[in-house]
Amino acid sequence: TTLEIVEHGIICVSNGIIRSIQRMGEDYSESDSTLPPSAFLQKLGHDNNNAQQLTIRIIPKNHFLFPGLIDTHIHASQYPNLGIFGKTTLLEWLNKYTFPLEASLTDPAKAKRVYRQCVQRSLRNGTTTAAYYATQSARSTNILTDVLIDLGQRGFVGRCAMDSDLQPKWYRDESPKAAKDDTSACVGYCKEADQSGRVRGIITPRFAPSCSRDTLSNLGRLLADGEQDGLLCQTHISENKNEVELVKQLFPECSSYAHVYDVHNLLTPRTVLAHAIHLTEDEIALIKSRECGVSHCPTSNMALGSGSLWVRHLLDEGVKVGLGTDVSGGYDVNVLEAARMACLVSRGVAEGGKGERSKISVEEALWLATRGGAEVLGLGGKVGGLEVGMVWDVILVGADEVPVDQDGEEAEKMLNGVHHDHDGKQTKIGGKVDFFGWETWEEKLAKWLFSGDDRNIRAVWVGGELVCRK
Ligand code: GUN
Ligand code: FE
Repeated sequence: TTLEIVEHGIICVSNGIIRSIQRMGEDYSESDSTLPPSAFLQKLGHDNNNAQQLTIRIIPKNHFLFPGLIDTHIHASQYPNLGIFGKTTLLEWLNKYTFPLEASLTDPAKAKRVYRQCVQRSLRNGTTTAAYYATQSARSTNILTDVLIDLGQRGFVGRCAMDSDLQPKWYRDESPKAAKDDTSACVGYCKEADQSGRVRGIITPRFAPSCSRDTLSNLGRLLADGEQDGLLCQTHISENKNEVELVKQLFPECSSYAHVYDVHNLLTPRTVLAHAIHLTEDEIALIKSRECGVSHCPTSNMALGSGSLWVRHLLDEGVKVGLGTDVSGGYDVNVLEAARMACLVSRGVAEGGKGERSKISVEEALWLATRGGAEVLGLGGKVGGLEVGMVWDVILVGADEVPVDQDGEEAEKMLNGVHHDHDGKQTKIGGKVDFFGWETWEEKLAKWLFSGDDRNIRAVWVGGELVCRK
């Protein structure tokens, strides 16, 4: 509920880990910062023997560092369909738009193109960790793994297991055995391809209606086998009322949607459940007792008319919650869009009868987009914040409105408040136009949350490595 702000400070990072955070006024004085760099570092108590390997970066005025954003639910394979959903709701949308597109990614060249564009755009929007769904095809899924490794984003890659008779014949696993073997193969591929553990496989039964009982059980077993490795599982739950009804018909032996997953051992502290809008109190108690995480996807839920999650209630009940873009049910790769939608949807929920306290604040939305997501993905204490011992998964947010989408030289001139006409005449343009200036830091963050976009993200680091710079 509150932001911790360091207005003047020094952060020391080595091997991708935050080693110290020092504040002016507490750890050093303003006059110390005028010392030569080596004397200053010595004064701060840093070992200066490797000074020639030391890089000093000064964060420009009106810029700030923020923890990288975490997208707990995104379908990279659906990226070409952004914004294309018409007035459909979930089940019609899947058949009409989603399955045909995903099936077309068996073409490896197309898969690579789509995944690269999606991951690149996600990084440019400041997402440092994402939990991805690829497609049913193992080959196409492994291409997404390659792309993540190449582009440097931290992430989880899931092959959609889907062998139910309800799936179209042209887009489903052949048998429960094939569903299990292909899932294992994709998890194994990540392990081989990326020993650093930055990119990992994730068990992904698409959702109950697309899986046979055997497949759900098999995947529950794979999940249990992967406990030592911290293997995660992701799926969809209770997104849409017709879907909930369908699950009731398909699994009459189970008392609820959550119960279907529970009897197949798929509800664990390593399970990420997307949507969770229409859960009953009993189901909420069940997922809480199993310590599952919820991925709240408000952009998607509004687009597909799925409903409004009462997120305050889940938080009050102690359920872990993070945010997901759910591309392309969601129309935007930007986690900030999901965060601002979380705020707006919560106001609708409050107005609809749940009361004032249901409103999500700016601070809470930003928490959900970072630390909340980290907890959901089993990365709590590692990423999602700026703290000693945490990994340097960080974004540089730039506040200057003018130069970011200008090309270099023009941007420089405008920054300096001088506009150069084509005939060489120089005109003052009344100083630079600041996106930020007079506000408190809390207000700057609110302004960024509600009206910022990818142009404000000036640099992105994952594990200390600069993976995107503009
Ligand atoms: N339920 C099953 N598959 C999907 C999907 O691709 N997107 C969303 N939003 N819900 C689903
Ligand atoms: Fe989804």
